[in-house]
Order: sequence, then structure tokens, then C-alpha cells
Amino acid sequence: MKGIILAGGSATRLRPCTKVTNKHLLPVYNKPMIYYPLNTLLKAGIKDILIITAPQGAGQYLNLLGSGREFGARFTYEIQDHPNGIAEAFIIGENFIDDDSVTLILGDNIYEDDLSGAISSFVRGGRVFAKIVSDPERFGIVEMDAQGKVLSIEEKPEHPKSNYCVTGCYIYDRYVTEAVKHLRPSGRGELEIVDVHNWYLERGELDVCVIQGEWIDAGTFDSLYRAQILAKEKLQHRMII
Ligand code: G1P
Repeated sequence: MKGIILAGGSATRLRPCTKVTNKHLLPVYNKPMIYYPLNTLLKAGIKDILIITAPQGAGQYLNLLGSGREFGARFTYEIQDHPNGIAEAFIIGENFIDDDSVTLILGDNIYEDDLSGAISSFVRGGRVFAKIVSDPERFGIVEMDAQGKVLSIEEKPEHPKSNYCVTGCYIYDRYVTEAVKHLRPSGRGELEIVDVHNWYLERGELDVCVIQGEWIDAGTFDSLYRAQILAKEKLQHRMII
């Protein structure tokens, strides 16, 4: 299993802070934001990790994280030139992924849960992590039957079929690069991760793990503020970096 942290984008919602530094380097309590998704991957035993950044400030990531040796891991770096969507990470990372499965985590997603079990038990297809939210029209939303089987996934639906949000960590087998090559950019001009989920869903190969603990996408000032509190009160003693 390989890992990708996607830390691209221009983070306009966090201006002016992100005028001079990258969102994923902002502090979340006592660590740079990217340490939290990195911790999630390392805790799951993933040691080969690709870090995809925007061109602006790419050198700062190298300064901060280096080769990965300090973390007992190996880091590779790539640039996402334009914010062309989450799914583009699998095109940028094609050579890196090679013939392995891959866990992609967004650089601003902070999980209280330990995802190790779900990552190490993965065999094939696709696996996403869902969390109940009160504002489902802002997210990818998964509809499940009583057995937890996926019925549909929709991106930011006007009329959500459930309150289960697809959070920013995804596991796919090696066919993901193939899947992404079939995608067309959406109305907002991006290669959408929801289309990758649906590619696997059509093949009956997508499953969902519902997470129990807190999950925060720290991309706005309010969620960043909540992330600081979560990090201080619940995460620090469990982190391995
Ligand atoms: C992205 C995904 C969406 C997911 C969300 C989680 O949305 O497209 O499916 O629910 O991340 O943070 P974005 O933040 O790019 O609008």
C-alpha cells in the first residue's frame, strides 16, 4: 500500500493567511496541518508517500518534511500545476503508484479515528470513509442500504439522499489510474473524486467505512479553529510524529 497526500490548491478561503504560506503548513495547535494526515498514513504502516503540492511554496514542504527518513518513511514530491481536482492526483502519481494499491488523503483532513484497520484490511476495489454531517449539500454524499451497501454517491447534491459525507481519505486498488483516464472534467472544470467512486461503484467494488470519531476538513477559519481544539484536546497524545 502506497500513500498520497494531496496538498494542492490556493486556499483562497483562508486569505490573508495563505497569501504568504500554504494552507497545509499553517499551525493546527502545535504542528503544521499536514502532520495530521501524514500521521494517519504513518500510523497505518504506510511508508512510501507521495506529497503533491501547488507550485507556490513547494520548497517549504521539502524543508519541513525532507526525505522522510526522520519519520521512518520515504517521501516523493510532485507538483499539481493547477487546481484540476482531487482525482488528478492519480494521474500525477501514476508512476509512483505503479502496480500497488494507494490511500489518498487530503492535506487538510484531520481524523480522530485510527484508520489503520480499514487500510490494512483493504484487498481490492475502492473504499471510502463516511461521516454524518449536518450540511450535506457541501460534500460528496453516500447513500447506503441497511446493510451498509453503497447505493449512490453524489457530489454536493441539492437534495441529499443521506447525511453521510464522503470524507477526504480514499483507498483504491491499482486500477485507479485506469479509472481516472476515463473521466472528463466536471462543470467546475475538475476531475472529480466522486466520479472515481462511481467508476468503482458501477463495478460493484466500492465499500464504505463509517467513522466514529471527529473529522474536520480544516479549509475554512471556523473549521480550522475547531481543528485546533480537536488537536489539543484529543489528538496530541495519540500521534506518532
Ligand atoms: C471534496 C470532495 C467531496 C468531499 C470533500 C471532503 O470536496 O469533492 O466529495 O466530500 O472534499 O472534504 P471539495 O472540498 O473539493 O469541494
